Amino acid sequence: MKSARVLLTGGAGFIGLGMVRRLLDSGASVTVVDDLSRGRLDDDAAAVFSRPGIDFVQADLADRSSLDGLGADFETIVHLAAVIGIQAASREPVRVLRTNALSAITITDFWRRCRARMVFASTSEVYGALPVSAGVPVPTPEGVPVGIADPGIPRYSYAASKIFGEALVMQSAASEGLRALVVRPHNVYGPRMGFDHVIPQMSIRALRRENPFRVFGPDETRAFCYVDDFCAAVSMLMESGAEGIFHVGNDRETRIGDLAEMILSLSGHAAPIAGMPSQTGSPARRCPDISKLREATGFSPSIALEEGLARTFAWYDAFAACNPSILDMDATP
Ligand SMILES: NC(=O)c1ccc[n+]([C@@H]2O[C@H](COP(=O)([O-])OP(=O)(O)OC[C@H]3O[C@@H](n4cnc5c(N)ncnc54)[C@H](O)[C@@H]3O)[C@@H](O)[C@H]2O)c1
Repeated sequence: MKSARVLLTGGAGFIGLGMVRRLLDSGASVTVVDDLSRGRLDDDAAAVFSRPGIDFVQADLADRSSLDGLGADFETIVHLAAVIGIQAASREPVRVLRTNALSAITITDFWRRCRARMVFASTSEVYGALPVSAGVPVPTPEGVPVGIADPGIPRYSYAASKIFGEALVMQSAASEGLRALVVRPHNVYGPRMGFDHVIPQMSIRALRRENPFRVFGPDETRAFCYVDDFCAAVSMLMESGAEGIFHVGNDRETRIGDLAEMILSLSGHAAPIAGMPSQTGSPARRCPDISKLREATGFSPSIALEEGLARTFAWYDAFAACNPSILDMDATP
C-alpha cells in the first residue's frame, strides 16, 4: 500500500515533533520543514528524525522561494511553523507579524500547487481580550467573533498574524475548491515545550525555591491540554476528513493560582503565593467549548492535568539537573 505523504512545517518544535511521531506511527512518510529558529535537533528530535520515512529540510518559510525545491505530490500539509506565543509577540511584534504572515503566504501558494489538504494551526489568542463581562460565553465556541482590541498593543501581533493566516487559508479553500482544516489550539503543554509559558516558568521558579512564589494573574483561568491529547485530536480530525474551524484542547478550566499550588506540590516547595498583576491584554478567563471536536471525532481528553503536569514537571526537573544555569533565567511572563 502506498503511504500517505505529509508536508509538516515546524516539525522540530514542541507540537510538531509529537505530530511527526504520530504520523510516522500511522505509516505516513513525512517531510519536515523547519528553520530551527526555535525548534531544536536535540536528542528527542534526533531519535524521531532518524526513523525511516522522514526527510528534514532546513528552510525559512518567510522566504517565498523556500519550498521551490520540493515536489508537489503531498496529500496533506500540516502548517505548524510560526514564531509563537505572547512573549515573542511582546518583545518582537514586527518579527511575529512578518514571519507568520509571509510563512502563511508561502505555504498557501505551495498548497494551491499541490491541491493537498491543509491543516493550519491557529491559536486561542484569536479571541483577543474578549471580556467575559461583554457576554462572551465560557466555555467559548468557535462561532464567537475573532479580533484584537488594539493593533498597537504588541501582544496582539501574534493573534493578528494568526487571524490573517486563518483568513488566507479559509478564503483560498473557498475560492479554489481546496480542503482546509483550521485548528485553534488552547494552551497545549508537555515536556520540551520551551520556556515561554506559564507551566515551565512556574516549574523553573519552583525548582529554584522562589519565596514568596509569584503568580501573575492568580484568579485568571485557562484550560490546559496535554500534548499527546492534542496530537491525538488533530489526527482524529484529519482521519475524519473534517473541514472548517475546530477548537482543539481540554475543557477543564483551571485557576492559575491552583495551577501554581499543583506545581509547588510536585516540587515539594511549600512557599506562600504572592499574587502579581497579569500582562496587559491577558484575558480573565479562557476555556474552549470542544463539542464540535467531540461530535466530529468522538475525542475526549484522556490525560488529566495532574498526570500531565507530573510528566511535564519531571522533564523540566531532569533538564535543570543537566543544565543548572537554566535556573537563573527570568522565568516571568
Ligand atoms: N503550544 C501551544 O499551546 C499553542 C497554542 C496555540 C497555538 N499554537 C500553534 O501551534 C503551532 C506549534 O506550536 P509549538 O508550541 O509547537 O511551537 P514551537 O515554537 O515549539 O514550534 C514552532 C516551530 O516552527 C519553527 N519555525 C518558526 N518560524 C519558522 C519559519 N519562518 N520557517 C520555518 N520554521 C519556522 C520553529 O523553529 C519551531 O520548530 C504554532 O503555529 C503555534 O502558533 C500552539
